[in-house]
Amino acid sequence: MMIIKEPKELQQELKRRRFEAAKQGRELTVGLVPTMGYLHEGHASLIRKARANDVVVLSIFVNPIQFGPNEDLDRYPRDAARDLALAEKECVDIVFMPEVQHMYPQPTKTKIQVEGLTSSLCGASRPGHFDGVTTVVAKLFHITKPDFAYFGMKDAQQVAVLSQMVADLNMDVQLVPCPIVRESDGMALSSRNVYLNEEQRSQALVLSASLKEAYELVQEQKSTTAAELKKLLTERIEAKPLAEIDYVEVLTFPELEPISEQTRLSDYEGDIIAALAVKFGSTRLIDNMLFQKKDVALHV
Ligand code: PAJ
Repeated sequence: MMIIKEPKELQQELKRRRFEAAKQGRELTVGLVPTMGYLHEGHASLIRKARANDVVVLSIFVNPIQFGPNEDLDRYPRDAARDLALAEKECVDIVFMPEVQHMYPQPTKTKIQVEGLTSSLCGASRPGHFDGVTTVVAKLFHITKPDFAYFGMKDAQQVAVLSQMVADLNMDVQLVPCPIVRESDGMALSSRNVYLNEEQRSQALVLSASLKEAYELVQEQKSTTAAELKKLLTERIEAKPLAEIDYVEVLTFPELEPISEQTRLSDYEGDIIAALAVKFGSTRLIDNMLFQKKDVALHV
């Protein structure tokens, strides 16, 4: 497994590998898994999907420009040694681990901004966050030129925003959305879960539990409306004293447009997402459930 820190070096290494393959009449496919490290089973699931390519590139970079001034950039969990061991175990070919000065050697004057999709959900509570995400992911795409890039539906809005960016800018990469990986009790895996104390962790289970209940309700009662779904989720979460709701939303996916509160989920033509962001102490957690056209949840 190679570990590379300099963007230029990664570009040259991949160019060399593509050239070598071309000499033998083969075309090399590159799969990219962008992460901020402190890897867990959710990240590992993306790496395993990426193994369908000839070369798997895992990027580990805590991207400062996607954190707001009062967010957790300074205390974001990091453990390079553990991440490298996991990457090795999962047969990653190249780990791209730049320092901030490698990615942003001078103050950045260019940014990528996706309009509309970034104004709701996490975009509303974290101004500028998605500009930081799209800018760094565009940079990673330019450095790696991946054929496929793997993203978790845990960050469903991120998937919607990045898909829009790829389409709008004719980027020659196929995004692969991957299902949410959960603990055995339902809790969605997240690097930020380490911040939670025992009581917060136990109450935070309400996120996945309420989404599961919402899913079951829609299965049982075809007449369930968006408003009823929102009410159920809100009530369940509000019953937990340590929970402070940032948002509970039921929107179309991937357009992220509001749907009329009286719309029955079963009547709506496209996919619908129930998305939650809830704070426990200073830790903000997100989770979601996708209701697909045929009332089948992709990511239970
Ligand atoms: P990070 O939070 O490290 O997540 C990296 C990738 O892992 C994302 O695509 C995320 O959706 C996915 N992921 C996280 N938890 C998951 C889970 N429980 N199940 C499945 N996938 C999961 O998302 C980012 O980093 C950054 O914004 C990044 C895209 C790297 C840009 O800086």
